[in-house]
Amino acid sequence: MDNKRIATLTLDDGRSIELPILSGTLGPDVVDMRALSKLGVFTYDPAFFATASCTSAITFIDGDAGLLYYRGYPIEQLAEKSDFLEVCYLLLNGELPSAVQKEEFRSIITHHTMVHDQLARFFNGFRRDAHPMAVMVGVVGALSAFYHDSLDINNPQHREISAHRLLAKVPTLAAMAYKYNVGEPFIYPKNKFSYVENFMYMMFGTPAEDYVPNPILVRALERIFILHADHEQNASTSTVRLAGSSGANPFACVASGIAALWGPAHGGANEAALKMLEEIGDVSRVKEYVQGVKDKKYKLMGFGHRVYKNMDPRASVMRSTCYEVLKELKLENNKLFQLAMELEKTALSDPYFIERKLYPNVDFYSGIVLRAIGIPTNMFTVIFALARTIGWVSQWNEMIADADHKIGRPRQLYMGEVKRDFVALEKR
Ligand code: SDX
Repeated sequence: MDNKRIATLTLDDGRSIELPILSGTLGPDVVDMRALSKLGVFTYDPAFFATASCTSAITFIDGDAGLLYYRGYPIEQLAEKSDFLEVCYLLLNGELPSAVQKEEFRSIITHHTMVHDQLARFFNGFRRDAHPMAVMVGVVGALSAFYHDSLDINNPQHREISAHRLLAKVPTLAAMAYKYNVGEPFIYPKNKFSYVENFMYMMFGTPAEDYVPNPILVRALERIFILHADHEQNASTSTVRLAGSSGANPFACVASGIAALWGPAHGGANEAALKMLEEIGDVSRVKEYVQGVKDKKYKLMGFGHRVYKNMDPRASVMRSTCYEVLKELKLENNKLFQLAMELEKTALSDPYFIERKLYPNVDFYSGIVLRAIGIPTNMFTVIFALARTIGWVSQWNEMIADADHKIGRPRQLYMGEVKRDFVALEKR
């Protein structure tokens, strides 16, 4: 990184400090603030609007131009030409695999899809109607208790096997969470299936009959997984990095990422967006609903983004995937899709949304495709967590592999009481 450029910060008492300006390969420069503590002051940036928390070489986003690259490859090309396991290899290792590497990776992941049978017992502690995300936080965290042989995070081989286990087992646990919720028997993975086919088999297969994956739905889910795989330092990835910075094991870190993703402002938005479309119900109610948004009664779920101030490139791919899948399933007149497109058109022509640069994000259309695939609404964020596991693990691995990484420990602007003496009970 070029650090010959300097920013000078001068305080109102005349003291000043020179801070290096660093440039990455793409994106905005950063001012290296680490020396600022010498002046006895902190930066203040709640919600991190203007803070780069780390260096990373995994994913690049340009919010103004609406660009998203995984290891330099545009998301549109990967969604069109790649498959999810190949994208996982790319995110984790930095390069697209050769044919030999790709087959070896597929075989490794396939042969780690089963979970220890004791894990099945963890589900029984939950009510059948527990939200599947609550179950996932629990059972993915529980994986920490099963791999004592490989939890030395400073050992690259241990990090690699943990990454493989998480990538392979999260779909199995996700399908188990669904089966537990609907009261059907767990379906064990079958090695003859591809990664996505296997997940759909474990979700929709039953012991009563053979399961034949629908190639249209498999391709649609493959694309959804690719679109959700990573996204720079979003809230859940930052949670995984902060948890990992203390030396916590990767299973516990991914469980913390699942917890952070669940919120409706983040990964929970896909479930909330579909519920919003169902609440609107008909295109005739779009204008009235949008007025409620402008009156700040509620937010337009699936719209807006901290980084994208242009169309989220994933939303564009998701919209076309939506159209393709519904067309192939002969559901072109799907009411929710018509409603979503009308809502998008209305919002994008309204000054309220234009002024605030609010565009559809990845969660706006994904729910419609997931519904068409047969995934129930309460599993939408689980699907997001399944796909994002590779992003969390890749970012965690990148951080731990950096020998200079330190425990994350933000400070605060204290607004509480100044020092005061204890008051005895009888005097209060
Ligand atoms: C994801 O970070 C990532 O990369 C996340 C993600 C990933 O892949 O990891 O991309 C996945 O989480 C996508 C976002 C999914 N969330 C939603 O769709 C929920 C609805 N969106 C909003 O909650 C909101 O847009 C956020 C949380 C996504 C971003 O909020 P910010 O950046 O904190 O912006 P803000 O809340 O300060 O909004 C600025 C203005 C405000 O209005 P004013 O106070 O200026 O009048 O825009 C308004 C907000 O009220 N606004 C919205 C809105 N989003 C912002 N108004 C109506 N509907 C919305 N969706």
